[in-house]
Amino acid sequence: MCRCWEPYWGWVPCAPTPWLLLSLVCAAPFSLLGEEIRQVYMEVISGGPNPQNLLHIRAVGTNSTLHYVWGTLGPPAVVLVATNTTQSVLSVNWSLLLSPDPDGGLMVLPKDSIQFSSALVFTRLLEFDSTKVSKGAAQPSGKPYPPYSLAEFSWNSSWDLTTLSSAFRGHPVDDPTGAFANGSLAFKVQAFSGSGRPAQPPRLLHSADACQLEVALVGASPRGNHSLFGLEVATLDTGLSCPSVKELHFIDDEYAPAVFQLDQLLWDSSPSGFMQWRPVAFSQKQRGRESALPCQVSSLNYTLAHSLPRSPVVQAFFGSQKNLCAFTLTFGAPTGPGYWDEHYLSWSMLLGVGVPPVDSLSPLVLGIIAVALGTPGLLLLGGGLFLLLRHKPYSEYQSIN
Ligand SMILES: *[C@@H]1O[C@H](CO)[C@@H](O)[C@H](O)[C@H]1NC(C)=O
Ligand SMILES: *[C@@H]1O[C@H](CO)[C@@H](O)[C@H](O)[C@H]1NC(C)=O
Ligand SMILES: *[C@@H]1O[C@H](CO)[C@@H](O)[C@H](O)[C@H]1NC(C)=O
Ligand SMILES: *[C@@H]1O[C@H](CO)[C@@H](O)[C@H](O)[C@H]1NC(C)=O
Ligand SMILES: *[C@@H]1O[C@H](CO)[C@@H](O)[C@H](O)[C@H]1NC(C)=O
Ligand SMILES: *[C@@H]1O[C@H](CO)[C@@H](O)[C@H](O)[C@H]1NC(C)=O
Ligand SMILES: *[C@@H]1O[C@H](CO)[C@@H](O)[C@H](O)[C@H]1NC(C)=O
Repeated sequence: MCRCWEPYWGWVPCAPTPWLLLSLVCAAPFSLLGEEIRQVYMEVISGGPNPQNLLHIRAVGTNSTLHYVWGTLGPPAVVLVATNTTQSVLSVNWSLLLSPDPDGGLMVLPKDSIQFSSALVFTRLLEFDSTKVSKGAAQPSGKPYPPYSLAEFSWNSSWDLTTLSSAFRGHPVDDPTGAFANGSLAFKVQAFSGSGRPAQPPRLLHSADACQLEVALVGASPRGNHSLFGLEVATLDTGLSCPSVKELHFIDDEYAPAVFQLDQLLWDSSPSGFMQWRPVAFSQKQRGRESALPCQVSSLNYTLAHSLPRSPVVQAFFGSQKNLCAFTLTFGAPTGPGYWDEHYLSWSMLLGVGVPPVDSLSPLVLGIIAVALGTPGLLLLGGGLFLLLRHKPYSEYQSIN
C-alpha cells in the first residue's frame, strides 16, 4: 500500500516513529474514498393547529436515503433511519403522535428498505457544584444540583432551508428562580450535501452521510459560582448490548487546538450509525485554546426507560422500550476556563451512518514532518556531496602531478 513512498524513504533510519507517520500519511488519501454527494432536502412538518413541528432532513444518495427526524415534542430527540432506496418516505400521523400511546405515529416506508435505525434523546441538562472537588473524588464533577428535565422546556424553532440549518431554542416552562430569564439552551442542526469542514473549531470533518449538532447554553444563571454543566443522553441498544464509546488518538491538532482525541459512539451493526465528537467544549464565542474545556463521557448503561423523560418521537417510531442506554457528557473541569467566565458553553458532534469520517494529517503537519525527517537526510546527503566535491579536485590535482 505504501510502496510508492519507498524510494523517498529508503534512507530514513528504521525507527518505529517514521513508520507510524508513514502509515498515517499513506492512509490519508484512502480515508477520502467512499464520500458521496447527497441531494439534501429539509422540510418542516407542522402538526396542524398545535404549535409542534418536526424537522425532517432527507439526504438522497445514488442508491440510499438517510432520514433524520428532529423534534422537541418531549425532550429534544432525533430518529435516524438509513434505507437502501432513493424512494423511501417519512409518514407522520399527528393524531397518533400527540396521543398518550404514540406507537406507529412515525414510519419510514417501505419498511423493508430500512438498513439501520436508531435514535438519540437529550433527556436532561445537568449542573454540578465543582467548588469542593478533591482529587480522586467519587464525583469528579462535584455535587450535582437537581437536573433540568428537557421534557419540561418550551422550545422555539427556526430554520433556514437554503443553508440546511435549523435551531431549537428552549427554556424551562417553570422557572421560579429566573435562571433562564436571559438565557436559553439551543440545539442547532446542520445538514450537508458533501464533505467539508466548518470554519469554527472543533472543525469536525463531515461527509454527506452525517449532520452536525451544536448544543449551546448561553446566558443562563448558574446555581453556584463554579458550576459545571452536563448533558444526559439516551439511545437504543443494538439488540444485544449498549453501544460503546471508542477513543481515537492523533498526533495532529491543526483543526482542534490542543485536542488529540476523537470520541466515537458506534452501534455495532452493518451498516452502523455513528456519533462522533472531539472531547472539547468552548466557554467563549471566540473558540480557541484559551476557551477550550475538556468534555468527559461516561460509559453507556441500561437504564429503565420510565426513569428517563419520555420521548414521544422515539416511541412513535420504535414503540415503547423497557430499557434505554443512557450516558452523560460533562463539560469543563473545576479549574481552568469555565461556564462562569462568560455564561457561555458550546459543544458539537456529528451524527451519521456508515464509516465515520477520520481526519488525515493536515498539510501543515505533513510539511513539518517532511522537514523534520528530511533535514537529517539532507544534511547527510549534503555532507556526502560536499566530501565528494572537495575530494575530486584534490585527486585531479594529485593526478596532474
Ligand atoms: C450503491 O452505489 C454505489 C456507488 O454508486 C455502489 O458502489 C454500491 O454497490 C451500490 N450499492 C448497492 C447495494 O447497490
Ligand atoms: C392515524 O392513526 C389513527 C389511529 O390509528 C387512524 O384512525 C387514522 O386513520 C390515521 N390517520 C392517517 C392519516 O393515517
Ligand atoms: C433493500 O434491502 C432489502 C432487505 O433489507 C432487500 O430485500 C431489497 O432487495 C433491497 N433493495 C435494494 C434496492 O437493494
Ligand atoms: C420564543 O418565541 C417567543 C415569541 O416570539 C418569545 O417570547 C420567547 O422568548 C422565545 N423563547 C426563546 C427560548 O427564545
Ligand atoms: C436579565 O437582563 C436584565 C437586563 O439586562 C437584567 O436587569 C436582569 O438582572 C437579568 N436577569 C438575570 C436573572 O440575569
Ligand atoms: C460566590 O462568590 C461570591 C464572591 O466571591 C461570594 O460572596 C458568594 O458567597 C459565593 N456564592 C456561592 C454560592 O458560593
Ligand atoms: C455505568 O456503569 C459503570 C459500571 O457499572 C459505572 O462506573 C458508570 O458510572 C455508569 N454510568 C452511568 C451513566 O450511570
